[in-house]
Amino acid sequence: MPTLAVYPGSFDPLTNGHVDIISRGARLFDRIVVAILVNAEKSPLFTMEERLDITRTVFKGFDNVEVDTFDGLLVDYVARRNAQVIVRGLRAVSDFEYEFQMALMNQRLNDRIQTIFMTPAEQYTYISSRLIKEVFSLGGRVSGLVPEMVESRLREKVRPTAART
Ligand code: PNS
Repeated sequence: MPTLAVYPGSFDPLTNGHVDIISRGARLFDRIVVAILVNAEKSPLFTMEERLDITRTVFKGFDNVEVDTFDGLLVDYVARRNAQVIVRGLRAVSDFEYEFQMALMNQRLNDRIQTIFMTPAEQYTYISSRLIKEVFSLGGRVSGLVPEMVESRLREKVRPTAART
């Protein structure tokens, strides 16, 4: 049976760390679905349409990468898609506790679904969507840390507020 993996997240915005994990996942699994969480509680910088558009554009050349949205419980979405695997990226020990907790809860909710942790290339281990937004909004450079499309969208959306001395 072909292995279908789901890589869930907020992707607000997509970083090169995410791109690296998705590319590795596409080599490892028959198909990988990037599943963007629809979360009404958070106020994301990028709309769902923008996040879908960015991720689909970046992975245009990949036949086995699909981009979708989900809401509700992740395990329910994974089961609906007949997927067997949840992929999560582990950057550092600091990620571990939260990820371990989620993996165990998801396992309790549906024991047929397996969480697999993947590590990104070393140069991406410190990147997070939150840091990208913070650094960019304060006037810092994020080139090489996010796809070019994300960088240009950030330039359109965010006016850096840094007071340069
Ligand atoms: O990129 P993020 O924000 O770290 O991703 C978190 C995500 C989307 C994987 C997590 O919040 C999630 O799975 N939410 C869906 C609701 C759910 O299933 N919650 C129980 C998780 S144990």
